Amino acid sequence: MKHLIDIKDLSVEEISNLIEVAKDIINHKEKYSHKCDGKKLATLFFEPSTRTRLSFEAAMLELGGSVIGFSDSSSSSTSKGETVSDTIRVVGGYADIIAMRHPKEGAPLVASMKSIVPIINAGDGGHNHPTQTLTDLLTIECEKGRLNNLTIGLCGDLKFGRTVHSLITAMSRYQGIKFVLISPEELKIPDYIKKEVLEKNNMQWCETKDIEEKLGSLDILYMTRVQKERFFNEADYVRLKDYYILNKEKLEKAKQDLCIMHPLPRVNEISTDVDDDKRACYFKQAEYGKYIRMALILKLLEVK
Ligand code: NCD
Repeated sequence: MKHLIDIKDLSVEEISNLIEVAKDIINHKEKYSHKCDGKKLATLFFEPSTRTRLSFEAAMLELGGSVIGFSDSSSSSTSKGETVSDTIRVVGGYADIIAMRHPKEGAPLVASMKSIVPIINAGDGGHNHPTQTLTDLLTIECEKGRLNNLTIGLCGDLKFGRTVHSLITAMSRYQGIKFVLISPEELKIPDYIKKEVLEKNNMQWCETKDIEEKLGSLDILYMTRVQKERFFNEADYVRLKDYYILNKEKLEKAKQDLCIMHPLPRVNEISTDVDDDKRACYFKQAEYGKYIRMALILKLLEVK
């Protein structure tokens, strides 16, 4: 049985197969509408979510399966003191596959050790978010036509932003990738990502505070929200939350075929005047999330 806890649980070849299946789903939706008849997905969300949970649920419904779960841990027995391990053991008797999001880093890994059905990490604290990364890879492949030879700017909260950690890990396995890491001093990428991913793989990367400095060289600009819920101190959040605001005027310096991404939700970091720009890909990106999750469910349930 296979789980998806970290993006490295999938080989580059497996990712490329998932992308191919997702593209086939986009083009031939009817072929897939009964693939998961009789199967159930449980979505256990101990933290807020819109896109991740709903795209998982829409994915399973479009495959012909059904969905159970909770979107607020206060309505689950967690509020009575039940452990994640016990919850997972029980839900494995009700569902064929589980997508879970938890504020504690490593909680999905612990769950996977106790689970009798596949576990998908739908975000664990400020750590990882592998299915957002699969979404991002499908978006990049569809919008740029390749996953290699790209200069990728990641901007905003690189410290707490789990989507950034998983995306850097994933992209470090492709050729010709350069990262431009754009953040305020306090929200720089964690040292463990620098050492274990960037340095270990001899990646080309640089850090800057200035979003405009390297904007003209980017193929992809991945904006992120400052992760309010991970701050210990409200004053720090307030000081940093509007550090970057991408707008039409700044984009004049960018390439015509730049792909602007954002895992969403957006707060202020992309001005709405960018939404009509042909380079804005973030709403399309959210839609790609459903198709790649369909492909992932098929893979983990070993549906042919
Ligand atoms: C992201 C997350 O939950 O980490 N959202 C998502 O899954 N699309 C990004 C965020 O919350 O800022």
